[in-house]
Amino acid sequence: MPFLPHAQHAAPRSPLRGPALPLGIAITAIGVLLSVASAPVPSPSEEPMPVPVAVLQVPPVQVTETTAVDPCAEPAVVEAIASGDDTATVAAFGGGAAFRESVVMGNAPCISLSDPARVWVVVNKSLPLDPPEYEPTDLAAVPLQVTTLSGQVRADVANAAGQMADAAAAAGVGQVGANNGYRSYGLQVTTYDSHVRAQGQAAADAGSARPGHSEHQTGLALDVVACGSGCGGLDGFGGTAQSDWVAANAWQYGFIVRYEDVGTPITGYAPEPWHLRYIGVDLATAYHDGGFRTLEEFFGLPAAPDYLP
Ligand code: DAL
Ligand code: ZN
Repeated sequence: MPFLPHAQHAAPRSPLRGPALPLGIAITAIGVLLSVASAPVPSPSEEPMPVPVAVLQVPPVQVTETTAVDPCAEPAVVEAIASGDDTATVAAFGGGAAFRESVVMGNAPCISLSDPARVWVVVNKSLPLDPPEYEPTDLAAVPLQVTTLSGQVRADVANAAGQMADAAAAAGVGQVGANNGYRSYGLQVTTYDSHVRAQGQAAADAGSARPGHSEHQTGLALDVVACGSGCGGLDGFGGTAQSDWVAANAWQYGFIVRYEDVGTPITGYAPEPWHLRYIGVDLATAYHDGGFRTLEEFFGLPAAPDYLP
């Protein structure tokens, strides 16, 4: 533990770029999450999708203690951030749970949840990429059977995906393949527009991010499919042995299932059991151990079911 334990009761600041916000933000966020739990969200089909309100569990956000008076002043944190080493940064905070708590408490102004180059970036309907046409610099081929032309992700994500697929195969659930990895801003324009033409805008917004709002543009997202003699598609992934294994074990390789059914009122997306988001092993472990179901809840952010006007 790099810091002396120290009770801290300071008001939390926003984990996003911007002015300091009062203690009430995390509590307000919870209230927003709960208040939208009953809001219906359209599915990719034309039919409204019933929202599973009863199973939505919002983990309590801890706002009473953090592990350091000023973690951003700690030399190990300063050095790790400056070197661009996200794993070392989370470790220097004291691990994934301590990192999360510092962010939620507003005690980590050196951590921007808006930085698209960091594994902790949050991209959703109210938090677009900054800059909108951001491009990752270290793309690599996903070492899996790939079913589209978008078979690249960040190098660290590619390595993690390979380890995860090897573990799935070793567990006897079969081959995990890759559908879409990185999509540029321009490709997201094409992808989203094709959904709008096929389904209409409301249905498209439940299944495809508008340009500048997709995690795929960060290189941190990977859509996976089940492969045997051939590979299935995205819609066929849920319910497969690979899907069940991924849902239970992907966190050990740094991935979370980003769009779960219970998260729809918060994310505004219909369930996507295939869409994995890399946040690194330490943060994914804290996410799993804490029982979180959306990244918004994990970082104490407001629900983002709709685009801002
Ligand atoms: N399907 C997800 C939401 C995306 O387009 O990024
Ligand atoms: Zn996806």
